[in-house]
Amino acid sequence: MQRTQVAIIGAGPSGLMLGQLLHRHGIDSVVIERQSREYVEARIRAGLLEQGTVDLLHEAGVAARLEREKLVHDGIELAFDGRLHRVDFKALAHETVTIYGQTELQKDLGDARVASGAPIHHGAGEVAIHGFDGGRPRVSWLQDGVRQELECDFIAGCDGFHGVCRASVPSAEIQHHERVYPFGWLGILAEVPPVADELIYANHQRGFALCSMRSRTRSRYYLQCTLADRVEDWSDERFWEELAIRLPAERARGLVTGPSIEKSIAPLRSFVAEPMRFGRLFLVGDAAHIVPPTGAKGLNLAAADVRVLYRALVEFYRGGGETLLDEYSGRALRRVWKATRFSWWFTTLMHRFDDDAFSHKLQLAELDYLAGSRAAATALAENYVGLPFD
Ligand code: APR
Ligand code: PHB
Repeated sequence: MQRTQVAIIGAGPSGLMLGQLLHRHGIDSVVIERQSREYVEARIRAGLLEQGTVDLLHEAGVAARLEREKLVHDGIELAFDGRLHRVDFKALAHETVTIYGQTELQKDLGDARVASGAPIHHGAGEVAIHGFDGGRPRVSWLQDGVRQELECDFIAGCDGFHGVCRASVPSAEIQHHERVYPFGWLGILAEVPPVADELIYANHQRGFALCSMRSRTRSRYYLQCTLADRVEDWSDERFWEELAIRLPAERARGLVTGPSIEKSIAPLRSFVAEPMRFGRLFLVGDAAHIVPPTGAKGLNLAAADVRVLYRALVEFYRGGGETLLDEYSGRALRRVWKATRFSWWFTTLMHRFDDDAFSHKLQLAELDYLAGSRAAATALAENYVGLPFD
């Protein structure tokens, strides 16, 4: 039987950040991931980091390439009713955000794991967790058809929304809160310079649009689409035409188009599982909560969870007892619910919901209020750049 201190299920950003921070503090972990490294690193996700996330990556010693390649943004533009309004994060919240693709971060974390020499098993089949309600948790899985068993002190469930960890908790012990939105996001990645220096969030009667970027030469654009839409319905030409319609003319004029290198549709969901701790099992990141992508809080919430958990584990192994471990769920959830609220609010403000002209008028009134009120814009700025990590 293999043994470790912390068994980490899932090698997404949550699992690898946690593993790296524990390694830096002399705590052993084994990472068990269902997919191959190539598969995990090819997934395209948002690319916006709060300062708290950047700080944590420094703490983990994985920020060297990030520091060389990042773009720093001081604000965003809101487009609505033919207008363009800038929200200045630096002036309003004294903070900036960092643009760095999650795909790149995933590679940096993968490299760091390999360099640390700490074990990571990709391609694990039939992963199962056992005994986390008692003192002897175990993980079992199939590696190349051979059954493996790992004994540990704690299990970190970093296995995303569809993972096995949350699903292993008896239903009487866990509560789920969920909201599904009646639309999706159609995203494309293209090797073209971004339409503007900052991100543009557009509320348009035909639906929401977002102009984002990965670098000065690579753009990421999104359009609100219906749940019935399929990627095949959207040629590149149709995408660019629709994006231009949804942007204010002064921005649409500057749009540089080109062939897409990726195109996909994602549904939008808010989801929170409570609590986030069950005996010796801790849920972290997407395994415990999902936010709609408006505002790009997913990765940042995962980082905040990791920070609370790794500090509690360090304290425990230093002989400081379980107080911080006991506080993990409560502390993480306070921040999770605030980000859930913000992501829901920003989604609700910017998307087209139905043909109800009244709701659209309310959105425009709120956007006009945001454009004219420092207090309202400050509330947006504070949440967007990220609330304090603890
Ligand atoms: N056994 C082992 N690994 C599993 C299992 C399983 N049964 N189920 C899922 N996994 C793996 C997935 O293959 C994935 O690599 O767990 C990992 C979970 O990673 P993510 O889904 O990226 O979740 P997380 O690490 O919490 O990252 C949160 O990613 O989804 C975005 O918006 C989210 O940006 C946020 C960040
Ligand atoms: C992205 O770059 O993919 C992105 C940026 C901001 C968001 C959502 C997604 O709000």
